[in-house]
Amino acid sequence: MSLWSVLSSPGWGPGSVLLILVLLLRLSVHIWHKFYLWDLQHCSTDLTGKTAVVTGANTSNCPNREGIGKAVSQELARRGARVILACRSRERGQQALAEIQAASKSNRVLLGEVDMSSMASIRSFAQRLLQECPEIHLLVNNAAVCGFPTTLTPEGLDLTFATNYTGPFLLTNLLQGALQRAGSARVVNVSSFRQSHGYIDEDHLIGAGRPLTFNQNYDCSKLLLASFTGKLAQRLQGTGVTVNSVDPGIVYTRIMKEFSWSYRFLYWLLSFFFKDSKQGAVPVLYLSLAKELDGISGKHFSSSCVITLPPEAAQDPHVAQSLWNTSVRLTNLDKVD
Ligand SMILES: NC(=O)c1ccc[n+]([C@@H]2O[C@H](COP(=O)([O-])OP(=O)(O)OC[C@H]3O[C@@H](n4cnc5c(N)ncnc54)[C@H](OP(=O)(O)O)[C@@H]3O)[C@@H](O)[C@H]2O)c1
Repeated sequence: MSLWSVLSSPGWGPGSVLLILVLLLRLSVHIWHKFYLWDLQHCSTDLTGKTAVVTGANTSNCPNREGIGKAVSQELARRGARVILACRSRERGQQALAEIQAASKSNRVLLGEVDMSSMASIRSFAQRLLQECPEIHLLVNNAAVCGFPTTLTPEGLDLTFATNYTGPFLLTNLLQGALQRAGSARVVNVSSFRQSHGYIDEDHLIGAGRPLTFNQNYDCSKLLLASFTGKLAQRLQGTGVTVNSVDPGIVYTRIMKEFSWSYRFLYWLLSFFFKDSKQGAVPVLYLSLAKELDGISGKHFSSSCVITLPPEAAQDPHVAQSLWNTSVRLTNLDKVD
């Protein structure tokens, strides 16, 4: 069959229009990413002598679908930071360590094992970390899960809330001394645009509370993270430590690995229009590196690196105080010397 007969076949007309439309849409997404995302290459921040901790920084066992945490860690290492990859899987963590060392040509990348859904694991990780690193300049709370139904951990916390909210709450508080000792430090909470679909009910933390629709526990956990960001920023005023949260945008990673095959298929189908992990890392790196954010704290940033208001529930100071008190009680933080 000649090329001409293929092009003039009846099916080619609408097919070609659709193909052209898809390619044009993809091109506009590409141009948008190129011109509207913060320009990482023009940021001169040097991290030599600084220490950064990134949770969920491992590889994914799935080529071309690295997580955002690994891409963030690689850039921090490239800029000279000592980077601690805080991962729950030693195997995936070691693989990430080797790949980041090779790509960044840095021998200052270390692996720390921590399960962010376990308070005991976080406590022992923090203890080991503080012995090694008395000063921490950057903490990126990146690890998260989604797609799990209400599931209790052996410590009586809901798995999704424990990983996405209670864990970061505990870890950040345990590392607060080291962050303050650094003189100037940043905490970056990786949130999600999904936070606007959540609501705050503290009982969700222990697997109880008002009913949740499918995957709404993820949305609610990210909303709690926004409330925590505001409250922590207020508490840290004048200490030299800032805390902000950011939505990386829609990124093609392994975040939907717990979803049914139909959701994963749709995610794969649309992935052509999504960011890859390097692009998804840019907003997180903006909050970690940009000099213009010195002293900016308690803010939420959109995936275009613009300050936006978090949902109303996360701005309520009474809600934030109550959530803080409950989180302190649940994590036994009040019992730490
Ligand atoms: N992808 C998106 O479209 C999107 C959109 C908005 C926000 N986000 C946020 O971006 C962040 C990174 O997500 P991602 O897209 O890069 O997803 P990902 O590829 O699934 O990465 C999540 C990372 O968290 C780790 N993790 C999960 N549970 C953990 C635990 N209990 N302890 C320690 N580490 C744990 C995972 O490790 P394992 O390999 O061991 O599971 C993995 O390294 C998350 O906070 C997510 O909510 C993502």
